[in-house]
Amino acid sequence: MHQVKNIPTDRLPDLLRAMPKAELHIHIEGSLEPEMIFSLAKRNALTLPYASVDELRRAYAFTNLQSFLDIYYAGASVLLTEQDFYDLASAYIAKTAIDNVAVCEIFFDPQTHTDRGVSMATVINGLHRACVEAEIKHGISASLIMCFLRHLSEEAAFETLEAAMPFRDKIIGIGLDSGEVGNPPEKFAKVFAKCRELGLHLVAHAGEEGPPAYVWTALDLLKVERIDHGVQSSKDALLMARLKKDRIPLTVCPLSNLKLCVFKDLRDHNLPQLLDAGLCAMVNSDDPSYFGGYMNDNFLQTFAATGMTAQHAYQLAHNSFEASFLDASAKRLHIDKLNAVFETF
Ligand code: HPA
Ligand code: ZN
Repeated sequence: MHQVKNIPTDRLPDLLRAMPKAELHIHIEGSLEPEMIFSLAKRNALTLPYASVDELRRAYAFTNLQSFLDIYYAGASVLLTEQDFYDLASAYIAKTAIDNVAVCEIFFDPQTHTDRGVSMATVINGLHRACVEAEIKHGISASLIMCFLRHLSEEAAFETLEAAMPFRDKIIGIGLDSGEVGNPPEKFAKVFAKCRELGLHLVAHAGEEGPPAYVWTALDLLKVERIDHGVQSSKDALLMARLKKDRIPLTVCPLSNLKLCVFKDLRDHNLPQLLDAGLCAMVNSDDPSYFGGYMNDNFLQTFAATGMTAQHAYQLAHNSFEASFLDASAKRLHIDKLNAVFETF
C-alpha cells in the first residue's frame, strides 16, 4: 500500500478538498435542491404542497429510510421535460466538480418518472446530455446506472429494462434501490440475470437498514460487483472476510447514514473499522440535497468526527477509483494524479 507522509490534522481539510476522487453512489433525484424544486414547479405550472423553500427544507427531518423516500419521490414529481433532467444533472456535475470529483457514476430511478407518464427517452436523453457535457466542460467522466425500485415487482423491473433497451448505449449498469427491508435482493434474481447477459455492470443497495443476509444474497444470487452502503456487514465476521477476500467495494454514505438514523452519531460510524479491516470502502453523498452535503462535506464531517488520518484519506480516494467501472488504463491515470497530489501537498 502507498505510504502517505505525515500531514498535520489542521491541514487535513485542505487535503480532503484537493484530492481527486470518484463518486459511485449518487442518486441524481437526490441532488434536486429545494430551490430547483420550486423553480421547476413554476416552469411546469405545478402547485407544491409547501409555501416556501424554507417550509420544504423544514420537512427534511427523517427518522428512517422510508420517511426520506416519501419526501424524495414527492420532490422528483416536478421533473417533467428533457430539459428538467438535463438541468438537474448539470447542476449536480457543476457542484461535484468543485469538490474535485473526477469520475461519477450516477444512479437514476426511471420508474419514479415513467409511472407519472414521463417517457424513458425524456429521462435518459436529458441526463445523458449532461454527462457528455461533463467531460467537455469539467473534464469529469460521468456515466449512468439505472436503478430498479425494489418496492415494485420484478415484472415492473423487466418492463423498465425493456423500455430502456433503445438507450442501452447510454447506461453502464443496473442498480437496486428504495425500501430495503422486506424487499430482499432475491426478489430480482431473474431480471439481474438478464441484465448480466446483456453485459451491464451490476450493483445493489444492501445492508443499509437490511441485515447482512441481504448482502450475501446480493453477492451470491444477483452477482453484483459492488454493494451500495453495506455498513451492516460489520455485524457478520464471515461476510467481512468474504468482502475482503473478493475485494467487493462498499459505497458508503456517511451523512446519509447519519440523517436516516443508521448511526446515531457520526462518531459511531464504522467507516474507519471497514477500512482498517482491509475492505474497499469509499465515501459518497447518496442524496446530497436531502442529507446536508455533497462529497467534500461528507469527507470533512466524517474525518472531523472519527479522527481518520491522511492515510485513510488516500485509501478512500484510491478505493473510489479502483471500484469505478472505468477501464484499467483510465483508473491508472486517475491514481497517478492522486499520487501526485499526495506527494506535492
Ligand atoms: N437507499 C435506498 N434507496 C434510495 C436511497 C437510499 O439511500 N436514496 C435514494 N433512493
Ligand atoms: Zn443510495
